[in-house]
Parts: sequence; structure tokens; C-alpha cells
Amino acid sequence: MKGIVFTVFIEYAEATFGGLVSEQMISSCDLSTGGAYTAVGTYDHREIVQMIVKLSELTDREVPELLKSFGFHLFGKLSAGYPELIANVNDSFELVSIIENHIHVEVRKLYPDASLPSFSHEFTGPDELHLLYESERGLADLAEGLLMGCFDHFGEEVVLEREDLSPGDGTRVAFKMRRVPG
Ligand code: HEM
Repeated sequence: MKGIVFTVFIEYAEATFGGLVSEQMISSCDLSTGGAYTAVGTYDHREIVQMIVKLSELTDREVPELLKSFGFHLFGKLSAGYPELIANVNDSFELVSIIENHIHVEVRKLYPDASLPSFSHEFTGPDELHLLYESERGLADLAEGLLMGCFDHFGEEVVLEREDLSPGDGTRVAFKMRRVPG
């Protein structure tokens, strides 16, 4: 997993739970870098999972809740960090529909070693979009948080439902989104 996700995660932990908690989280995990990630490096994604599990113990929050809240935060950082990737996008459903064939394609050009999930989508009505997330890393909670961050970015109200199609490990998850016209 790319270092940018790690650096934003550590920033998120610090900003949300304070420097002490974030230091405790780092020092009690077995990390290849000792917690010193660089944005352009690539690291084992299990290190971020290890840190989230530790953060959950330290803060008494559930892991899925932490992943979603981190995903929400991450969307803001990614969209601000790569403004050209979403410059001509007008609404959240348009953005969601171009993740697979545009956004993550550009990410792959920037970082050829990126480990990206696979998405397929279908519009089932003018205000209804279905999205299928597939990834062996099982980060559907992170995907859900990113989606919520995306709706927030465009100031839209979207009702999100999800169904885990995998044996409970979040590797294949269907999201159904219904936009509440504003
Ligand atoms: C709602 C929009 C988006 C969703 C749902 C989404 C979803 C995801 C998920 C779930 C991952 C984790 C990898 C995995 O699950 O296998 C990921 C990785 C990533 N995404 Fe997206 N993404 C979105 C938008 C963006 C945007 C706007 C950028 C801007 C550059 C971006 C850049 C990246 C990068 C750099 C990674 C890390 C790749 C790696 O770790 O090797 N994504 N994305």
C-alpha cells in the first residue's frame, strides 16, 4: 500500500486522538519503518491494519468505525492532493462512476506499484447507483468512508446500503446508493 495512505492515517490518528495515543499506537506495533513512512514509499498493507487494531484497543472504538472515519478524512486529503484528477467532476455519482476507469488509472500511472481495488458500477435510476467493490485486502470499510467523504465533498445527501457478498471478510461488497434530491 502506498505511503500516502500511511502518512495520512498517522496524521488522522494524531489529529483525532492526540499525539500520545498516536505514539502509543506506533510504538506498540511491529512496523518495518518504526512508523516513519514516506508518501511515495510502498509498505505492507497489514501494517496499517495492525495500527488500526491497536488504535481500536487504545480508544475503545470498533475497527470498522475507525476505518470508515479514516476513509472520510482520506477522501478530503486525496481530492485536495490531486485536484486535477477530479477537476471536471460535477457530482458524487459522476466521481464514483469514474474511479475504476479514470481516477485509479491515473493513480496507477503515478504509482505503478499501487495495490488498487476493482470497482464496477451500474446506474439503476437517475438518483440510484450500485457499486461493487472487490479487493483481496478487504478494505470495504475504508471504501465506505471514502464514499461518505465524497458525498460530503459535493454537499450531497446520499443514503448508502451495503451487502457483504464475501464470507464476512469485506473482500467483495455491494454498495447501493440513493441520492436524496436537494
Ligand atoms: C469515492 C472515491 C474513492 C473510493 C471509493 C476509493 C477506494 C479505494 C480503496 C478502498 C483503496 C484501498 C485499496 C484496496 O481496497 O484494495 C484505495 C486506494 C487508493 N486510492 Fe482510491 N478511492 C477513491 C478515490 C480516490 C481518489 C480521488 C484518489 C486520488 C488520487 C485515490 C487514490 C488512491 C490511492 C493513492 C490509493 C492507494 C493505493 C495503494 O495503496 O497502493 N482514490 N482507493
